[in-house]
Amino acid sequence: MTRHFLRDDDLSPAEQGEVLELAATLKRAPYSSRSLAGPRTVATIYDKPTLRTQASFAAGIAELGGNPMLVDGSLAGIGKRESVADVARVLGRQASVIVWRTFAQSAVEEMAAYAGVPVVNGLTDEFHPCQLLADLLTVREHKGALPGLTVAFVGDGGSNLSNSWLLAGATAGLHVRVAAPEGHQPEEQYVDRAREIGGQTGATVAALADPKAALDGADVVVTDTWVSMGKEEEAAARLAAFADYRVTTDLMSLAARDAIVMHCLPAYRGKEIDAEVLDGPQSVIWDEAENRRHAQKAIITWLIEGVPRSSGAAS
Ligand code: NVA
Repeated sequence: MTRHFLRDDDLSPAEQGEVLELAATLKRAPYSSRSLAGPRTVATIYDKPTLRTQASFAAGIAELGGNPMLVDGSLAGIGKRESVADVARVLGRQASVIVWRTFAQSAVEEMAAYAGVPVVNGLTDEFHPCQLLADLLTVREHKGALPGLTVAFVGDGGSNLSNSWLLAGATAGLHVRVAAPEGHQPEEQYVDRAREIGGQTGATVAALADPKAALDGADVVVTDTWVSMGKEEEAAARLAAFADYRVTTDLMSLAARDAIVMHCLPAYRGKEIDAEVLDGPQSVIWDEAENRRHAQKAIITWLIEGVPRSSGAAS
């Protein structure tokens, strides 16, 4: 059965561990997998702006021996000019993997239902699972073993990044705290799902209003833009709602002394995070950006080469 990576909990805890291990190997030895030799084609489609995702997929696909095909989202008009299902059936005949950045999660699910090849979520309104693989790889590099670490996400608890931290963090056995203002708290369904995963991994989840409580002793501090792509019309209201949720040096003083700071970028200095923090010694943002390539090479390779027998996971 074809596997996809549409949301963070598409990988079981054991599978997530395998993918992260493979990512670390591919970082040490970038050409040790030629899983796309041929070259096989990976179709990448972007319906929202992109820098890191497009660049890291293109570079990573080339390193795997493959051909990165850019399908121009505005020309293709997926779901407008022709249906998602028809596009999926066409691209599935040209490419070995499809990567899609778009708006609705239901759209990538529909693509996966009809493509016949693995589909990877390159960001939707609901999740950004490739970012989380890169972020967990980054945390592992700086902090060692993941289970038991505490991560504080400060900002838009209703965003794709927050949802993905809840699910991927719980899968990795982290204690995930989200601090967000009223009206921007994480949806209950994701908190519940993360808690359910935590039942297997030991992870815990807290949805808080107070950023100080979230940062107290945290090992990892994460933030993201207050105005995600597609929310531009709400910008003014959001800047006001999140004003007390900026990651400042004062706030950082509450975290563990050796805490790391993460941001998926693009960042808005002086809004969700102060420049001194983003550009300061605790920041690991450039490692995160680099690790997109290693993590995405790992998930592509893992998806097309199949589930290793040792994982015992059903497909
Ligand atoms: N939450 C942000 C992530 C950007 C990579 C957005 O969706 O715009």
